[in-house]
Amino acid sequence: MEAKQSFYRKLPKVELHAHLNGSISQSTIYKLIKYHKDKNKTDFVLPEAWQVSIAKGEQRSLEDCFDIFKLIHKLVDDTNAVKMVTRDVVQEFAEDGVRYLEIRTTPRANTQNGMSKTAYIDAVLAGVGEALSGDSDIIVKLLLSIDRRQSFQDAINTVELASQYRDKSPPHCSVVGVDLSGDPSAGDIPELVPALTQAKKNGLKLALHVAEIVNNKDTESLLALLPDRIGHGTYLLPSKGGCQQFVDMVQQHKIPIEMCLTSNVKGRTVAGYLDHHFKYWYDANHPISVCTDDKGVFASDLSDEYSIVAQTFGLSNEEVWTLSEAAIDQCFASDTTKQQLKRIWKDNKPCSSN
Ligand code: IMP
Ligand code: ZN
Repeated sequence: MEAKQSFYRKLPKVELHAHLNGSISQSTIYKLIKYHKDKNKTDFVLPEAWQVSIAKGEQRSLEDCFDIFKLIHKLVDDTNAVKMVTRDVVQEFAEDGVRYLEIRTTPRANTQNGMSKTAYIDAVLAGVGEALSGDSDIIVKLLLSIDRRQSFQDAINTVELASQYRDKSPPHCSVVGVDLSGDPSAGDIPELVPALTQAKKNGLKLALHVAEIVNNKDTESLLALLPDRIGHGTYLLPSKGGCQQFVDMVQQHKIPIEMCLTSNVKGRTVAGYLDHHFKYWYDANHPISVCTDDKGVFASDLSDEYSIVAQTFGLSNEEVWTLSEAAIDQCFASDTTKQQLKRIWKDNKPCSSN
């Protein structure tokens, strides 16, 4: 059993769907609580560490999950905290065997301490730099998130920031695209579509949360943008309340889907691991990647997720390796980086026996 677990840790992995503030480990949460206690001037009640993570076997409503992010955002409210959590998150992914990471985050300003959205992004890039200056062997890219609740003005501002940072990214971490996320039951998608269209025109990649809950109108508008990747895609299938046109479109354009199993089980958007739509798309040989979504909030790292996928759907070590390698082609990275990653995978290929 231990050898089995170490297989998933040693497996080289690609993480394509990780929200920065959802990925904060319990040990970093303790550091943040101490940081605020030392500052001694919080105007809010500090949360306890257990309040910002959903333990094994526990589940919450999606609404409760979004309340957890509000608590975390209170803890990560200045550039020191943003830099620290970014450094820790990147190091932890590297320690878990992730060799390529796309981290996404919603730029946040704080008028109380003068943090601007650009200062927030600079702090994230500085945190990545600190992680990489150690011995973390990992390539990191950044996506800027648009929250569904935001206005067109906020969204287009994020698109402009992403374009500016893409053009002046430091060598250690480039901004490669835009994510659309946030509470799937909120927001006005028709208002945000022109901003996402502009992002595409600017040459940014689009990774959009689509069909996280049943909302076929939003799904139709978002699929019409032909995103470069889909987050979740839980309710695309007709059997789940989506429709065949969605499935046909996603298959025809081979739009990769980021699968976040524990997130969906703990957030109760799927009934259980066995009911997860992973199976449909895996059996259809569609491009998919295994992802964590929020490794801190959902208390599950990427090795755990691969192990769960293998156990739930009966994948051999070789099949798990192939699944992990296939994610390389879904990265928002250059062909040279993809070739470099493929060499790492080849060097770590397991023997054919299980
Ligand atoms: P941040 O963007 O780094 O602050 O990460 C937390 C944010 O990611 C949350 O406030 C949400 O907007 C978004 N997020 C995290 N998990 C999910 C999810 O499962 N669905 C939709 N949005 C999510
Ligand atoms: Zn997500």
